[in-house]
Amino acid sequence: MRIILFSGKGGVGKTTLSAATGYKLSEMGYRALVVSLDPAHSLSDAFDLTEEERLSAKGLPVKIKENLWIQEIDVQEEIDRYWGDVYRFLEILFNTTGLDEIVAEELAILPGMEEVTSLLYVNKYYREKEFDVLILDLPPTGESLRFVSMPTVLKWYMKKIFKTERLVMRVARPVVGRLSDVPLPDEAYFKALENFYEKLKGVDEVLVDPKVTSVRLVTNPEKMVVKESQRAFMYFNLFGVNVDAVLINRVIPKELVDCQYLKEWVEVQRRYLEEIKSFFSPVPVFEVPLMRGEVFGEKKLKELADLVYKDRDPSEVFFEERPYEFLKEEEGYTLRIKAPFVKKETVSLLKSEEEIVVRVGNFKSHILLPRKLRKLEPQGAKIEEGYIKIRLA
Ligand SMILES: Nc1ncnc2c1ncn2[C@@H]1O[C@H](COP(=O)(O)OP(=O)(O)OP(=O)(O)O)[C@@H](O)[C@H]1O
Ligand SMILES: [Mg+2]
Repeated sequence: MRIILFSGKGGVGKTTLSAATGYKLSEMGYRALVVSLDPAHSLSDAFDLTEEERLSAKGLPVKIKENLWIQEIDVQEEIDRYWGDVYRFLEILFNTTGLDEIVAEELAILPGMEEVTSLLYVNKYYREKEFDVLILDLPPTGESLRFVSMPTVLKWYMKKIFKTERLVMRVARPVVGRLSDVPLPDEAYFKALENFYEKLKGVDEVLVDPKVTSVRLVTNPEKMVVKESQRAFMYFNLFGVNVDAVLINRVIPKELVDCQYLKEWVEVQRRYLEEIKSFFSPVPVFEVPLMRGEVFGEKKLKELADLVYKDRDPSEVFFEERPYEFLKEEEGYTLRIKAPFVKKETVSLLKSEEEIVVRVGNFKSHILLPRKLRKLEPQGAKIEEGYIKIRLA
């Protein structure tokens, strides 16, 4: 099974491209499910569903045509279904104690409901193997990143809560339970958490398996959007989730490049298109033209998907290597960049405040540094086993 995540800044075209990708896959004979968490139900809109059709779905998959389903998850409903016990406990605790330290901590740590809800579904569909491809239309970038970091956070949380809290409770309940006003979590709370954890087990490995999961980063050829995509790219890389393509949406089509009115836009776009390619290389970049109008309904989605993927299979893994990694060393870090067939004489380095620019011949690659590493300086570089290795200290 393949899992394809569409991520990007708000409004860049994630939902449209998720829908178009699902549509093309279904036409090719794959059983495809497109899932969205957007409360504005834009996925239903992309497929031109009526209000009635949408409401009757009740958050479950709706069949659009042969081999194609869409599902719009209602997070509030899901919280009631899965988080009931945990939530109720917090509520009681909250009401009797006010916001004291424990609650504050608990609320701070309690992982994001939206992300966890989507992870539950990812795992469910991955286990059930009912679909060949699961497409997830993620919320705008910030939250997408929380989504991929969630398994790590959860693991930590569960370890903490089961190892210490539960032990303490076992001992404390008989004594404290009768004396204090502060309620202690009952078995149901732990049962709910345990149940939950069971349902999520393994999803972390699924997300970092490049044969299964790919992120398609959607961007527009505009300054602000490109910057954010670059940041997202770095974080996905850090979490080990494979970005297998970058889709640049709303590129002004060639037949309009001579239009006087659009002249400035065409120039800006051309500049950013070049830049995007250098930022994301060697990850493949797909250009998606600005269509004549809004993209909704099966006909237009098909047209769009054909322009994006041409005769390629959207379920293919377009790229599989981590372009770069930050490795922790005894002192500082090493930035390791995949660069086969590169000769030392052709490489030069430049560090600015927040990025490292590696130039190989006349090709430039920009690598955004994680906050923690920005103060470090390159201490030299070498070429080894097909990698450029830059020591940062
Ligand atoms: N290539 C394109 N050509 C023309 N219109 C497009 C194109 N891509 C997307 N659109 C239109 O742009 C609008 C926004 O797209 P979409 O809803 O897919 O963005 P999004 O990234 O999902 O937004 P949000 O972050 O709000 O969920 C829609 O009306 C869609 O029809
Ligand atoms: Mg959307």
